[in-house]
Amino acid sequence: MTVNPKPIIYFNNAATSWPKPPEVLEAVSQSLSLPVFGSGRTTGMQGEDSITLARERLSAFLGAEPPEHIVFTHNATDSLNILISGFLAGNKDGCHVLTTALDHNSVLRPLHEYEQQHRIRLNIIPFTECRVRPESVEAAIRPDTRLMVMTHGSNVLGSVQDIKTIGDILHDHGIYFVVDGAQTAGHIPIGLKDLPVDAFVFTGHKGLLGIPGTGGFYVRNPEAITPVRFGGTGTDSFSLLHPRGMPERFEIGTHNVPGLAALAAGVNFIEEKGIASIVKKAEEQTAFLIRELKEEANIMIYNEHPDLPIVAFNIRGLDNDDVGFMLARGYNIVARTGLHCAPLVHKAIDGGEGCVRLSLSWCTTDEECRIAANAIRRIAKNANSSLGQA
Ligand SMILES: Cc1ncc(COP(=O)(O)O)c(C=O)c1O
Repeated sequence: MTVNPKPIIYFNNAATSWPKPPEVLEAVSQSLSLPVFGSGRTTGMQGEDSITLARERLSAFLGAEPPEHIVFTHNATDSLNILISGFLAGNKDGCHVLTTALDHNSVLRPLHEYEQQHRIRLNIIPFTECRVRPESVEAAIRPDTRLMVMTHGSNVLGSVQDIKTIGDILHDHGIYFVVDGAQTAGHIPIGLKDLPVDAFVFTGHKGLLGIPGTGGFYVRNPEAITPVRFGGTGTDSFSLLHPRGMPERFEIGTHNVPGLAALAAGVNFIEEKGIASIVKKAEEQTAFLIRELKEEANIMIYNEHPDLPIVAFNIRGLDNDDVGFMLARGYNIVARTGLHCAPLVHKAIDGGEGCVRLSLSWCTTDEECRIAANAIRRIAKNANSSLGQA
């Protein structure tokens, strides 16, 4: 086996955060080292405690009461599927649904499946300067519009959407609002108590610093959503019908107990560090990267003022996959390239070719940002001189 002596410089935190805080790894290890015992779910008492703790942590962190309205699932995609199916289950005649061109395939694909089955009519609202305008949402509303599903923060452009104004407009028209917070939870304060959303989706393995295979959603009024999955809950076991109380209404089978222990530890870690200090550092480092990349005329940055620690760019004359390869080979920098599961964003910004994305986390250092900026600028300069020679 060959060992690469250079440390990995990880700029792919919008895909999944790495490294995890030591407390998170410890929580997984501790959870797996304890036996499962007791009654209740098959995971037993040890499992129940971690789940309750994680629910309380998430509820407090997101400002989402009561804790029982936090539902745990496999990930954000799973949550979105449950919510979309559940909100639409009562609409047998088909209805009108809104989403946006900023959205991830986790939203676009379930909605397109429904559209293909003639179960909904779908409108995709475009974005301007990285944002969906509330006026565009209002203009798209029809008498049969029942649901809007949209991203809170773009995973390509790093722009946070005005879900307060959009939610108020939707609620004035009696339309349900589901927000995909996969890129915002853990990166910015959320405060769901004051936001007009009917459901808010999170994932465990990105900004919340947990491990893959965890996620969930907050739901304001569980009665508005028809459960679409059924099975064992460890409660009311004589009943052949699935319990309708919360959170059992939407949770089935054995939980990912080590994953939820990790999620609670991730949220604790963020709270101890303070979200304000995480945001401040991320903003400074992101601004530094953008300032540096702007120095090269052949680097195209797709959002020069992101709200999240995400920098999406291309170098004129170079394929984005080649740039990613050069960063990995030459500098041990892990960046994401190509299409980032948000095809309509790429159609709008880079003609569907894809781009390079740098995404930062709580532990990105200034030195790593400096190395990345220098590396990208060097690649851009070389591309420029070889184009000049051609
Ligand atoms: C905006 C957005 N929504 C949803 C997802 C899917 O998240 P998960 O991997 O938890 O299903 C992602 C992940 O890349 C994302 O960026």
